[in-house]
Amino acid sequence: QSHLLGIEPLHPAGITTILDLADQYVDLNRQANKHADALAGLTQINMFFENSTRTQASFELAGKRLGADVMNMAMQASSIKKGETLIDTALTLNAMHPDLLVVRHPHSGAVDLLAQKVNCAVLNAGDGRHEHPTQALLDALTIRRAKGRLHRLSIAICGDIAHSRVARSNIILLGKMENRVRLVGPPTLMPSGISEFGVEVFDDMREGLRDVDVVMMLRLQRERMDGGFIPSEREYFHRFGLDAEKLSHAKADAIVMHPGPMNRGVEIDGTIADDINRSVIQEQVEMGVAVRMAAMDLLARNLRARRAAEKEVTV
Ligand code: CP
Repeated sequence: QSHLLGIEPLHPAGITTILDLADQYVDLNRQANKHADALAGLTQINMFFENSTRTQASFELAGKRLGADVMNMAMQASSIKKGETLIDTALTLNAMHPDLLVVRHPHSGAVDLLAQKVNCAVLNAGDGRHEHPTQALLDALTIRRAKGRLHRLSIAICGDIAHSRVARSNIILLGKMENRVRLVGPPTLMPSGISEFGVEVFDDMREGLRDVDVVMMLRLQRERMDGGFIPSEREYFHRFGLDAEKLSHAKADAIVMHPGPMNRGVEIDGTIADDINRSVIQEQVEMGVAVRMAAMDLLARNLRARRAAEKEVTV
């Protein structure tokens, strides 16, 4: 692969390769000296056109731990504010010879478009409702480490599926790895035609969570609701918020996940989120750094190989 734009083009073997390398980086990140040189001499630019805590911080740490020169573009202070287009901004940065561009954008497809205009590796850090591939990979690594496998598991993804790029990337990845995926949420927050993805759909939490191995909660993404249906928080928590009683319908050893940012008392009870026997939310954050190190390492190897081959042709 030249870029990581989504989970869609990845094969199961490719997903396993990323997760296996990420496992090694988990070990490195737990040592006193966290540095390696996989990205030494390379330049990484992070362009976040949407807010982020976890993704931006972990991409920055990942790049620095692997020896890259990392620049975070302050998009609020950039010439985008003066009317420069996304493509002109990308071409301008491309002229400075970056090797890795990490991009988050509110519009689905914007990162794919940008990748066609530059000659470095592009990583999608979340585009609109489309994909958030490194989130799905870090979720997969978290599940694999907690459950000892990433196949034949029953996984419930709950909440605002319609507006969620996290849900979309996870549905694709977990399906490719031969898991049973259930989607649980109000019909108004369920995308049309979703059953074509081979998932089961529920609008009742107790039914949807029955005997699952993994419960993945999602935030209500009000910023993408375009003035459409917005449920009241109280009513939503009552019907779809994860609390101890609803969780009791899952397997006794089911793990609880949330990609963050989390709204306690809306989609999840704070005591469940903090329960270290069930919640793996902090592990997800830890896996995020390792997965992003692995993804950038593998893309950089491909980039170097491509550049070496091009050099041979021109000599
Ligand atoms: N999960 C996730 O993408 O979080 P941020 O928006 O904080 O990056």
